[in-house]
Amino acid sequence: MAKKTGDRAQLHELLYQALETEIGGIRLYKAAVACAVNQDLHKEWEDYLNETTTHRQVLLSVFELLGLDPETRTPGREVVEHLGASMVRAIEMARQAGDPIAAQRVAAECVVLAETKDHANWELIGLACDHLQAKEAKEAEVLRQAYDAVHRDEDHHLYYTPRAGRASCGSTRWASPP
Ligand SMILES: [Fe+2]
Ligand SMILES: [Fe+2]
Repeated sequence: MAKKTGDRAQLHELLYQALETEIGGIRLYKAAVACAVNQDLHKEWEDYLNETTTHRQVLLSVFELLGLDPETRTPGREVVEHLGASMVRAIEMARQAGDPIAAQRVAAECVVLAETKDHANWELIGLACDHLQAKEAKEAEVLRQAYDAVHRDEDHHLYYTPRAGRASCGSTRWASPP
């Protein structure tokens, strides 16, 4: 029974961190878009900003359906918020330094870091669906629908952005992903 309670607490902690990751991602993409010199990268990050906004809304619906308070703060969530704010600050620092290409590269590196966490969150949410017990069917269904709505976006976010390294070397266009 104690293990069950612990598992439930861990799942909720994952959801709090996932929500904070999406909130931080919105701020990060706004900062990154402002640094994008490459036209394709600018469009891609604008699209990811919109998708990240949708992901936050998907999670808010999950919170509502599961009766969780989206304002709840946890130590892990505080760390996620701190890291997100630090990356936005890093992008602003690079922008103020006056080298647009270097600032774009810093933004791309921060996006990759943030998307690594975002992708991991959703992978874990998908795994959690598979491990919930039969009497937790409602919770599993809510999480499954959220996972199905988001996880392909997260694959794309994580695996596309490293191409920004090419843009950071000075090109203003390069081929979009298939
Ligand atoms: Fe996301
Ligand atoms: Fe993402």
